[in-house]
Amino acid sequence: MGENAIKIFIDVILLGLFFYEVGIMASASRIHEILGCVFFVLLIIHNLLNKGYYMNLGQGRYSRKRIAGIVVIGVFGISVLVLEFSGVAMSRHLFPNMKFLSDWNVRALHLGAAIAALAALIFHVLMHMGRYMQGKKFYYLTGLALVLTISGIFGLPYIERWYHPVSINLQQTIEGEKVNFSGNVLIVYFSRVGNTDFPKQVDAVSGASLLKDNEVLLGNAQVLALMIQNAIGGDIASIQTVEKYPGSYNETTKIAGDELAKQSFPVLKHKLPDLVQYDTIVLVYPLWWGTLPRPVASFMKAYNFEGKTIVPVVTHGGGGAGDSVEVLRGLANGKVAEPLIVYSSDIPLFRDDVTNHLKNLHR
Ligand SMILES: Cc1cc2nc3c(=O)[nH]c(=O)nc-3n(C[C@H](O)[C@H](O)[C@H](O)COP(=O)(O)O)c2cc1C
Repeated sequence: MGENAIKIFIDVILLGLFFYEVGIMASASRIHEILGCVFFVLLIIHNLLNKGYYMNLGQGRYSRKRIAGIVVIGVFGISVLVLEFSGVAMSRHLFPNMKFLSDWNVRALHLGAAIAALAALIFHVLMHMGRYMQGKKFYYLTGLALVLTISGIFGLPYIERWYHPVSINLQQTIEGEKVNFSGNVLIVYFSRVGNTDFPKQVDAVSGASLLKDNEVLLGNAQVLALMIQNAIGGDIASIQTVEKYPGSYNETTKIAGDELAKQSFPVLKHKLPDLVQYDTIVLVYPLWWGTLPRPVASFMKAYNFEGKTIVPVVTHGGGGAGDSVEVLRGLANGKVAEPLIVYSSDIPLFRDDVTNHLKNLHR
């Protein structure tokens, strides 16, 4: 193989590895770590093979295009270094003892570096392509590169958010303005956390928008329930099923889909407090398949809500309240108030909205 062929071969592998790493970053596995190291070694070889580029840096004219090329390579080089260092600090398999940055900071750094490297890489490849392609084709390619970069910038954090728990300080998150609420309140929540057999390693958990405070995993509905309790006081209880859901998000959605198709009433673990003493039941739940999770239907069936007000609080991953409030109205013989609806990613900054909604309910 001639030197040129080796260069092209390594470049293609580097490109493939980079996109493969971005694609599997969500699983953050041993393979991701090993390939990250392979990428780094190949990148050093790539630079050695192209050392002529660096040796020529001091020579010739500096056109705008040349300067842009150097900046892009610089951004890429720095991003890769940050990627590698933060990767080592985050490593669970290859370098488990090298924790020189806190978990949360290092993840943000790794993600930011991945975005910067992605953008730089796309423009680097594009500048090379400019040599072989002219006119319309080149403009189409530039357009495609822009679309890829923008989807990377917005897509990577989304993937990250979807697959990894987000660290919060629970106490700070739930703390806020107190609201005067008359009558006795019971806050009942149903959450995936508390009803799921999660693996011990919190970061290995996959699934939408889980929260954690230090190493303690928290359900979205659970955090909302605690926010509400912080605002209006009252007792708090959780709906728990006898059968736990599996740790895998996908499997959970399948089981939940089956329960829905069968309109089943999953058996609940224990009786919740007697409702007689309460005037308001705040019911916090996630949207499942665009509707009410069946364990919440089990709760509704088990109790008499006559003379009580139910306040639905729904958390979702983009589907709003779906038809869950209508289903709730069909199951409840009490009054169902206007729901409070929150997109899962907004929960850490939702405390003020909780205050406003609760104030409005009492107007
Ligand atoms: C089984 C299942 C089904 C879901 N279905 C939907 C859905 O149809 N629409 C939606 O926007 N979000 C859906 N989600 C996302 C959850 O509503 C969202 O992540 C919620 O904040 C989770 O709350 P939790 O952590 O208290 O369980 C679903 C989640 C699960 C586990």
